[in-house]
Amino acid sequence: MKDERPIGIFDSGVGGLTVLKVFRDRYPGENFIYFGDTARVPYGTKSEKTVVRYSMENSKFLEKFDVKLIVVACNTSSSIALDVLKREFNVPVIGVVKPGSLAAVKVTKTGNVGVIGTEATVKSGSYRKEILLRAPLLNVYEKPCPLFVPLIEEGWIEDEITMLVAKRYLSYFKDGKVDTLVLGCTHYPLLKSVIGKILEGVTLVDSAEETVKETAKVLKGNLDEVGIGKVRVFVSDLNERFEKIAEMILENRISIKEVSTE
Ligand code: DGL
Repeated sequence: MKDERPIGIFDSGVGGLTVLKVFRDRYPGENFIYFGDTARVPYGTKSEKTVVRYSMENSKFLEKFDVKLIVVACNTSSSIALDVLKREFNVPVIGVVKPGSLAAVKVTKTGNVGVIGTEATVKSGSYRKEILLRAPLLNVYEKPCPLFVPLIEEGWIEDEITMLVAKRYLSYFKDGKVDTLVLGCTHYPLLKSVIGKILEGVTLVDSAEETVKETAKVLKGNLDEVGIGKVRVFVSDLNERFEKIAEMILENRISIKEVSTE
């Protein structure tokens, strides 16, 4: 019998919508509750203690909707708060770091993998740990790209300034240093085309697909591929920017409600 309870997804802002999009495309019959903590974004520059507190509050908010599973669609929260969330909540909690690492290990041919993410994600070493756990002989090169999130939240995606910033960060990977690059922040898939132009020939790994597969595994495949489910989107600060980028990511207009989690 179908489990009608929604899947809860949260991120610090719009980034997690890239994960929601893949879920929706694959399982349109499922119900989803998305929470974007737009009032407190970015998480990537905050202390561990704060990221854990925010992640707990976001999950408690999702819990009110009787969610059957929580997807932490934020690499920063997944890197820092996942163990706490798994301990504190009665439903399964899935992060994006493990699925992203798995995808990178599958894809690399040269064994040289790059990871880009927020300062907090890179500092946590979560990707290095998860990748080396699966393939101890790989070389992992990590680079924080802290300006990417504000540029994306600003809506500067196909933009010359973003291109310049990206060139500067990604020069670390030039001359074939890596053949695979993990987009270790759920905001970054929005910069796929910019990054792809700079690192031609490098395979870009977006953890969303693997996260959806992992969810299906945990829910034993009990997910609706054909029906018409309901998506409800909540934010802690409703602003035009979010609405615009959300529409771009989800490819349709959605209604968004502002709430407080504190
Ligand atoms: N989208 C988030 C991530 O995947 C982080 C952006 C931020 O809040 O710094 O890490």
